[in-house]
Amino acid sequence: MIVTTKQLFAHAYGKYAVGAYNINNLEQTVGLFRGNLGKSKSNADPVDPATSAPFILQISRGARGYTDKRFLEAMIRTADEIFPESILAVHLDHGTEDACYDCIDSGFYSSVMIDASSEEYSKNIEITRRVVDRAHAKGIVVEAELGQLGGVEEDVVGSVCLTDPDQAAEFVERSGCDSLAVAIGTSHGAYKFTGKQGLHFDVLEKIRRVLPEKYPLVMHGSSSVPQEWVERINNAGGKMKSASGVPDDQYLPAAKLGVCKINIDTDGRLVWCAIHRESFRDDPANFDLRPPGKLFMAAYAGYIVHKNKMFGSAGQLESVRKTLGS
Ligand code: G3H
Ligand code: 13P
Ligand code: ZN
Repeated sequence: MIVTTKQLFAHAYGKYAVGAYNINNLEQTVGLFRGNLGKSKSNADPVDPATSAPFILQISRGARGYTDKRFLEAMIRTADEIFPESILAVHLDHGTEDACYDCIDSGFYSSVMIDASSEEYSKNIEITRRVVDRAHAKGIVVEAELGQLGGVEEDVVGSVCLTDPDQAAEFVERSGCDSLAVAIGTSHGAYKFTGKQGLHFDVLEKIRRVLPEKYPLVMHGSSSVPQEWVERINNAGGKMKSASGVPDDQYLPAAKLGVCKINIDTDGRLVWCAIHRESFRDDPANFDLRPPGKLFMAAYAGYIVHKNKMFGSAGQLESVRKTLGS
């Protein structure tokens, strides 16, 4: 069942965060749906109430252009039929104004992100407000971003600029956005921290205090870059040096401070890369795509289960369903 992020955040606020996972292809989609229902091995496994979770499936502009955006939409609709117990929001990740309008008009997305964070402050408000007005007219909710993460966001090369708590309240009020992505020390990609940096919980706390009660915050660039997966990649011929991410034990403290959505893309790519490298290393005569594909779907589902446990969303699915009255 496709719902809005707003509905998911109302249930999660202050208790846990909802995982927002990027997808690009079929195997990621299947692994993602299975993992959020606690089915690690196959579509036919029973739903596991102890680990099943609501989730956000997010699609970047890069993903929409990778093959054709209509393939993604068709895959998600089909997955929603094959896994009828699922509760998810479908979200545009890092949208431009045009990409937001395209998604709003498609009638498929329940949520869009307008990322005008590289614009000057008042321009960011102005653009976000236009998107909010068009989205709200169709019952679609909007995430906006204030501050800039490090790393690469699509074609925007970000230079780190933490969110200014003094601007956050005014930004939310004037733009009308439903949730706010904040820059509190994370960055996109596999190389987040070089030394002892971590999340700026002090900034997060200040932002939370100035915003309206129970206002949902979003954390981008939140992959944990598990060393296990980096080592597996490197042991199978990869060359990823000094990769590091957000430690698993930082997610719940952030959720308690109002972070309701945690974005994960890089970790899914690491799982994909490790499994495919190992598979072809271990069976060099193989040229069939299905053996690594099957291994990947199971491994990705297992990864999602682990991540949802770290976010506190594992085991929340039935309670969300009751709250939604469905
Ligand atoms: O924040 C960016 C996401 O990780 C999307 O990455 O543009 O390569 O799909 P992508
Ligand atoms: P990661 O690169 O840490 O997975 O972040 C993904 C993200 O923020 C997508 O918007
Ligand atoms: Zn992001």
